[in-house]
Amino acid sequence: MALPWSSWDPHQRGSWAWKGLLLTALLITWIPPAPALLNILAIPEKPAQGDNVTLLVRGLPGDLVAYNWYRGTDLSQGHLILSYIISPADETPGPAYTGREAVRPDGSLDLRDVVPEDSGSYILQTLNQQFQTDIAYGHLLVYEILSPPLLLANGTKLVERRDSIHLLCSTPSTGDVRWFFNGEPLPISSRLGLTPDNRVLVRHNVRREEAGAYQCEVWNPVSISRSDPVNLTVYYGPDRVAIVQESAFQTGCTVEAEFNASLTLCCVTRSCPDPEYTWSFNGQTHESTTRYLNISGMTKDKEGTYTCIAKNPMTELSGSASVLVKMSVATSAMTIVPVPTKPTEGRDVILSVQGYPKDLLVYAWYRGTASEPNRLLSQLPSGNWIAGPAHTGREMGFANCSLLIQKLNLTDTGRYTLKTVTLQGKTETLDVQLQVSKGSSLTMGTVSPPSDRRLPWGRILSASAPTKQEFLEDLCYVSPI
Ligand SMILES: *[C@@H]1O[C@H](CO)[C@@H](O)[C@H](O)[C@H]1NC(C)=O
Ligand SMILES: *[C@@H]1O[C@H](CO)[C@@H](O)[C@H](O)[C@H]1NC(C)=O
Ligand SMILES: *[C@@H]1O[C@H](CO)[C@@H](O)[C@H](O)[C@H]1NC(C)=O
Ligand SMILES: *[C@@H]1O[C@H](CO)[C@@H](O)[C@H](O)[C@H]1NC(C)=O
Ligand SMILES: *[C@@H]1O[C@H](CO)[C@@H](O)[C@H](O)[C@H]1NC(C)=O
Ligand SMILES: *[C@@H]1O[C@H](CO)[C@@H](O)[C@H](O)[C@H]1NC(C)=O
Ligand SMILES: *[C@@H]1O[C@H](CO)[C@@H](O)[C@H](O)[C@H]1NC(C)=O
Repeated sequence: MALPWSSWDPHQRGSWAWKGLLLTALLITWIPPAPALLNILAIPEKPAQGDNVTLLVRGLPGDLVAYNWYRGTDLSQGHLILSYIISPADETPGPAYTGREAVRPDGSLDLRDVVPEDSGSYILQTLNQQFQTDIAYGHLLVYEILSPPLLLANGTKLVERRDSIHLLCSTPSTGDVRWFFNGEPLPISSRLGLTPDNRVLVRHNVRREEAGAYQCEVWNPVSISRSDPVNLTVYYGPDRVAIVQESAFQTGCTVEAEFNASLTLCCVTRSCPDPEYTWSFNGQTHESTTRYLNISGMTKDKEGTYTCIAKNPMTELSGSASVLVKMSVATSAMTIVPVPTKPTEGRDVILSVQGYPKDLLVYAWYRGTASEPNRLLSQLPSGNWIAGPAHTGREMGFANCSLLIQKLNLTDTGRYTLKTVTLQGKTETLDVQLQVSKGSSLTMGTVSPPSDRRLPWGRILSASAPTKQEFLEDLCYVSPI
């Protein structure tokens, strides 16, 4: 049977006899502990590692002669920390004494520089003048000062929907663990991936939204410590690939570009990292390896299917998109308007041409129908105009196709015909009726009734009659004036 009252004191001879007496008395008078009137309180209540703590005793009767303090839950000799005789004050250490404990005259126990291992139960045993003992239990919980946990990932570069997040919050501490994502508490959805002890986070088939900085934190009532962040990268995509451009007319996957127009096709998608781009034109590899493909100076031979392939080297996924680039059919928006609209004898008039072809190569003006003897003038590819057989010396051509007729006389009234030819060899013929009024008269000029309501001032007579070659011959094989 363990001795309830310690006399362990090999060095202090002076108090030997006295203690032997006490021991005997205690053995005789030992009674089971009554419901304690005593209570023991740790001050501070939640001590941190390194603090000085007092196990404060309250409710002690006044007739005490000695105290014993034990560590643990039972009164055994090996657990004795200190024996204390009140008068004269005398303290005797026991086997459980660490050098950091001291008993106060009021029975309280001071513990200096506590460590987490000091946590546990403490028992105070008292002896009164009648050699009766009493005991009280105290409890001490020393919180450690936490050092940062180490966050370990078994992979930080993950592929969406394929890889798993696997994070371990490594800490020797028993403190609670909580998690942070981009500095905020971990979203609830991700918290579902935590093990019951919160030490391991697992998320299968990672999503792109889960990319970011993860941290874990250990905490107890006296300290908090957070790990360094671990950045997770989630590779994804390419998502749906599309080709966009801004400079030409587009319906669905068909882009219509005007002759000589420049356009930039841009391949768009979402992907991490940026994908590698390859382009093809009518099935042939194109040189562009960026997201852009430039088409400058649109011509017939640049018509066709342009395909962009975006490949993500990390996910090994790819996607593609195609557009059909066509040259816009030159819409016959060409009109001729006399300026002024009511020309009078002796004044000038301009037969002003709007909407002439952008890819104009040459044109010719005729008085009457488009036949060589009626040719007033023609403009050559050089930009200079030359007079034709019907030239009166009062007509001039402009680069914009317009015709100036100076010093009108009444016989200038009649039909005028414009013929244009484009670089593509497309010809167009349009005429206008000119009405010259007498100098003083206010007679309205009249124009031949339009055959096509879209073209109030002129009408297309023929849209593809001669070939380019024929027309060039028609225009050029005439003697300049
Ligand atoms: C604990 O007590 C010792 C000696 O009494 C003193 O030197 C030390 O500063 C105290 N520590 C704290 C944390 O108060
Ligand atoms: C991470 O660890 C888990 C479980 O051990 C394993 O299934 C997974 O393949 C590992 N991931 C990587 C990228 O190593
Ligand atoms: C994680 O990402 C943040 C911001 O993107 C950056 O400042 C930090 O250096 C990164 N940390 C590591 C370990 O790569
Ligand atoms: C084509 O466009 C370029 C630049 O816009 C211009 O310099 C050139 O004259 C144009 N060519 C034709 C035939 O219109
Ligand atoms: C394509 O055009 C864009 C602007 O439209 C320009 O920034 C880019 O440098 C061009 N790329 C090439 C290869 O000419
Ligand atoms: C054509 O050019 C002439 C001379 O530069 C100008 O007077 C006329 O207004 C122009 N016509 C149009 C429709 O641009
Ligand atoms: C009108 O001009 C034409 C050509 O210049 C000329 O032959 C004719 O005589 C002129 N008519 C009048 C009435 O001036």
